[in-house]
Amino acid sequence: MCKLGINIDHVATLRNARGQSHPDPLEAAIILKECKVDSITMHLREDRRHIKDKDIFLIKDKVDLPINLEIAPTEEMTKIAIDLNPRSVCFVPEKRMEITTEGGLNVKSNMIKIERLLNLFSSSKIKVACFIEPDFNQIDSLKSLGIKILEFHTGSYADAKTTKIIENKLSLIQEAAKYATKLGFDCHAGHGLNYKNVFNIASIKEIKELNIGHFIIGESIFSGLKNSILKMKDIINSAKK
Ligand code: PXP
Repeated sequence: MCKLGINIDHVATLRNARGQSHPDPLEAAIILKECKVDSITMHLREDRRHIKDKDIFLIKDKVDLPINLEIAPTEEMTKIAIDLNPRSVCFVPEKRMEITTEGGLNVKSNMIKIERLLNLFSSSKIKVACFIEPDFNQIDSLKSLGIKILEFHTGSYADAKTTKIIENKLSLIQEAAKYATKLGFDCHAGHGLNYKNVFNIASIKEIKELNIGHFIIGESIFSGLKNSILKMKDIINSAKK
């Protein structure tokens, strides 16, 4: 079985657009629990553009599901993660001006920084992963840091437009997952996955967990819009009776 973590950041994006409390990421987290999803994924960005500190602590307190917290590899974020004590943390690269996480973390060129942060986790039970491109050199760097979980960035595969490029990007992920598994890694994957492209990734037997956000939150508008309109019409019509 492939586990599924749902990234609920974009519920907060919509809430923040109004600066009020609806839609509430806590309500989304409760629905995840009802759907027996395996974990709640949240990315606490340095600019707090979607999920905020109070969301992650409230959800941890109120919803009995493992939390996978995505953070930039910084001391500030690591301290918040240790305070929260989620099941797992995934280090992701972060640039302030990017719209979303563009590419994996360059572990190789951040070895000293990541090693220092890993030491901060040493007395906790939090599992630490890194979000990387399907690249053997990056996997080797994680191995030398003693990290045992990795998440492959599937963005290049998801964005590929021609069959040839899609196949090429898919085979990079397949080969990297085989290589990492042989080295003892637990392999996860995510980014840009949707109904059309998820099957190929979920078919890779070495990939044990997927984290999916934007598409599910976006798609839920269309699967729920009709009900929301009909419910509003009912209330309005009942007021005129
Ligand atoms: N996994 C990680 C580490 C991420 O940073 C993200 C968001 O970029 C996702 C999964 C989910 O990506 P998406 O929202 O495109 O499904």
